[in-house]
Amino acid sequence: MEYTNANILSSKQFDSRSLEQLFKVAKELEPIAQKKLPSDLLRGKVLASVFLEPSTRTRFSFETAMNRLGGRVVTIADLHQSSLTKGETLQDMAHTISFFSDVTVMRHPQAFSVSVFSEGSLVPVINAGDGSNEHPTQAIADIYTLHKEKGSIDGLTIAFLGDLKYSRVVHSLSSLLCHFSVKFIFVSPQALRMPESERQFLHEKGVYFEETENLEDAIKKSEAIYVTRIQRERFENQDEYERLYGVYIISKSLIERCNSDVLIMSPLPRCGEITQDTDQLDGACYFRQVSNGVSVRMALLSLVLGKI
Ligand code: NCD
Repeated sequence: MEYTNANILSSKQFDSRSLEQLFKVAKELEPIAQKKLPSDLLRGKVLASVFLEPSTRTRFSFETAMNRLGGRVVTIADLHQSSLTKGETLQDMAHTISFFSDVTVMRHPQAFSVSVFSEGSLVPVINAGDGSNEHPTQAIADIYTLHKEKGSIDGLTIAFLGDLKYSRVVHSLSSLLCHFSVKFIFVSPQALRMPESERQFLHEKGVYFEETENLEDAIKKSEAIYVTRIQRERFENQDEYERLYGVYIISKSLIERCNSDVLIMSPLPRCGEITQDTDQLDGACYFRQVSNGVSVRMALLSLVLGKI
């Protein structure tokens, strides 16, 4: 994949070489992300940050990445502040924003809407989460973290648990991990199984996976677990959400009993599925994922803008 001027819409567009390139740049930029060095790399460039769905980490991560590389940010963080509420199309909105920015990052509640938006854009568009479909930059941050924590990704068994139906990060991360030699265990209630399209994709890529409802077994067999919250906002029926909420809870005692070496990952936010005392474990790396997210987004912005 060629980065300069590319839209970043899906994990499925990456190959091993482009991932390696991205991680190399992210490592170089890490001292800037960690506030140890100043930088002017993106001076004169403007990021449009368009978040039409709630966000704390992803939005600040992109905006911080741009600011710390010397660029600037313009932002819309509320659907109701945008002209979409007047009936403007996503393509027209994108076309308009292109005159103000050099790169646009967008989050939207509907699946595939960021792709539609990118059709109207004259500048590169990065998907920061489109409904329950994908969240490629979180997946990149997660793989970068996994590599840092474990030294290598090949040979790992990774359990994904919780809401595998609606978690866009799980869809992006499992696809991206196909470039490594990994095994997956999908732990969810039947109603929140990994979607057929994603399972099909993994079959085609020849990735081994199993599905289970047994959390403890999965923890015992894995080197890393990826914990997701039940995505309340995606449920049409809130009673169904209430029924499924709390189905899997990770706690310090559960991890110590099943596998004290396991790496515990989550895109956050946590909404009860990881207890506070879990944070005391060395393997709890969800806040390190947040920190790594800035380095990889710095790398992505620099590559897409052709500055590296
Ligand atoms: C995730 C998201 O928005 O999809 N959060 C994030 O970007 N770090 C996960 C979630 O909301 O559950």
